[in-house]
Amino acid sequence: MNQATALAHPNIAFIKYWGDKDPDLRIPMNGSLSMNLDCLYSRTAVEFDPGLKSDQLTIGGRVPPEIAVQRVNRFLDQVRHLAGFHTFAKVTSENNFPTGSGIASSASGFAALSLAASTAAGLDLDQRELSRLARLGSGSACRSIPGGFVEWLPGGDDESSYAISIAAHDHWDLHDCIAVVSREHKQTGSAAGHVLAASSPLQKSRVTDTGRRIDFCRNAILYRDFQAFAEIVELDSNLMHAVMMTSQPQLYYWQPATLDVMQCVIEWRAGGFPVCFTIDAGPNVHVITTGDNSAAVMEKLNQIPGVLEVLLGQPGREARLIDQETGGK
Ligand code: PMV
Repeated sequence: MNQATALAHPNIAFIKYWGDKDPDLRIPMNGSLSMNLDCLYSRTAVEFDPGLKSDQLTIGGRVPPEIAVQRVNRFLDQVRHLAGFHTFAKVTSENNFPTGSGIASSASGFAALSLAASTAAGLDLDQRELSRLARLGSGSACRSIPGGFVEWLPGGDDESSYAISIAAHDHWDLHDCIAVVSREHKQTGSAAGHVLAASSPLQKSRVTDTGRRIDFCRNAILYRDFQAFAEIVELDSNLMHAVMMTSQPQLYYWQPATLDVMQCVIEWRAGGFPVCFTIDAGPNVHVITTGDNSAAVMEKLNQIPGVLEVLLGQPGREARLIDQETGGK
């Protein structure tokens, strides 16, 4: 087989990855925890074709900016190296959600690309090997390989840094109501942001305390304790954004509507509603709630001025191969 198509979900980090120990291998400064988001996906087809003179990439039917093309070329070089051949590939990828605005399109994109490219190259990688490969494309992509609730074990080298599932997608019906306040492509991507993390005087304490937050959050997930979960998730998001804002140069991903949504969420929880927020490297706010409350949360979010739309993500499964003809999920 020289072609394959794979589907992978983005993931939302509850305990965030920010900063690398080794930027080339994307070995993170700290471990992280996330949930895959069903409904949202990247679907990527890869075909190695001896007739090609270079790799060909389209995302959503368009050729992306040169920097993205080069990143995919370098990634495919790793796959070719593992497979022991030099053939170029045609890569066709689609996302069913906005790209590059803090909804982790690089995570689902590189997870789907890892599975499709390694399969098309005839490699038969197990889940740990796939997670390590996806990590080379984008750190958080390693968390979109296993299913459900996922922990990235930071490790110290290429072998030991990969993600595992800590609970299946049907363990806890948490919903992520994503309040989209901007569809613009962010100015500073996470790759550049990871480099800046070390320039914040707050990064060291954030990293040092991560083991505690991971244990607390993992337990909250395993025991389905929403109150404990909400507190640690908001704290972790705030810690990462504090590092971003105090980096040199400073990085502000929030917009006024971002803060409006955060304040509403804090008020709703104070009023007894099970909700909490978390924000990645973009202005959009992920509002997490339990399945029985998500319709009400979406309705409330839609009423906040500045919220353009609300997307819904439910706990998602692992990255998987799909039938190219039907495109079936
Ligand atoms: O995998 P990257 O390089 O896109 O970094 C992801 C960074 C955050 O989304 C902000 C946090 C995380 O853990 O997903």
